[in-house]
Amino acid sequence: MTNTSPSPQNLFEANNIVKRIGTVVIADGVDIHVPAGSIVGMIGPNGAGKTTMLGIFSGNVKANSGTVVFKGRDVTSVAMAKRARLGIGRTFQIPRPFDKLTVFEHTLLAVQQSQSVSMSEAHERAIFALERCGLLKLVNEIGGDLRLLDRKRLEMARAVALDPALVLLDEVAGGLNNAEVGQLIEIVLSLRDSGISFLWVEHVIRALNATADRIVCLSGGHLIAEGSPAEVLAHPAVIESYFGSPAFMSTAS
Ligand SMILES: Nc1ncnc2c1ncn2[C@@H]1O[C@H](COP(=O)(O)OP(=O)(O)OP(=O)(O)O)[C@@H](O)[C@H]1O
Ligand SMILES: [Mg+2]
Repeated sequence: MTNTSPSPQNLFEANNIVKRIGTVVIADGVDIHVPAGSIVGMIGPNGAGKTTMLGIFSGNVKANSGTVVFKGRDVTSVAMAKRARLGIGRTFQIPRPFDKLTVFEHTLLAVQQSQSVSMSEAHERAIFALERCGLLKLVNEIGGDLRLLDRKRLEMARAVALDPALVLLDEVAGGLNNAEVGQLIEIVLSLRDSGISFLWVEHVIRALNATADRIVCLSGGHLIAEGSPAEVLAHPAVIESYFGSPAFMSTAS
């Protein structure tokens, strides 16, 4: 059932989202909500449409229909840059830092492109975000030289520097080793404790198991399961939709 009136405890709501790309139905009336202060995980098979959904939520992909509500305000027609200013941050699935810019310059640029703040405030925000994401030691490194973990941290720092209430994470744990996933989990939990909510698309189930209050599973245009991590990961439809995916099976335990 679709509830189109925003619930006060929900920081973010997407209601009755319909999205088709060609003949592929990405979403056929999907409802997703993120309560304030929570971490919601989103899983689903490759190509299910998870990244597309994050695009719809952040404003760089247009849905065929449905509404997106943030802090009680209908932002369905609000462009991505303005949604970022309102407090919806996001990371991109494949970080592509510039070859010539340092870590600090990347983060500073994110602030300057999004918000009209003084140079000193932009500096402060960039340093604050880099510290929160464990990148202070690397501020002078060139973005293109970073190893994968630090590229992912930089993606997060660029989002955190905009002082977001909600961050949409797209597979920030993908490709990392166990210890690195552990570090990322610590960063996300500490950011959540300081008031940032997350909608986290991830194939590394361990990361969601350790952080998410609730998980939703997108498959075939629908949320085929929704609930606590334990409930969703044991759900027969979820196991079926991932059947044959060694990455999932090896990280789910
Ligand atoms: N701009 C586009 N043009 C055409 N097809 C697209 C476009 N963007 C996405 N698709 C298709 O839409 C479907 C959903 O893609 P999407 O990247 O959202 O999936 P995903 O769940 O994020 O997958 P993954 O887990 O591999 O990251 C796929 O079939 C993809 O090929
Ligand atoms: Mg994706």
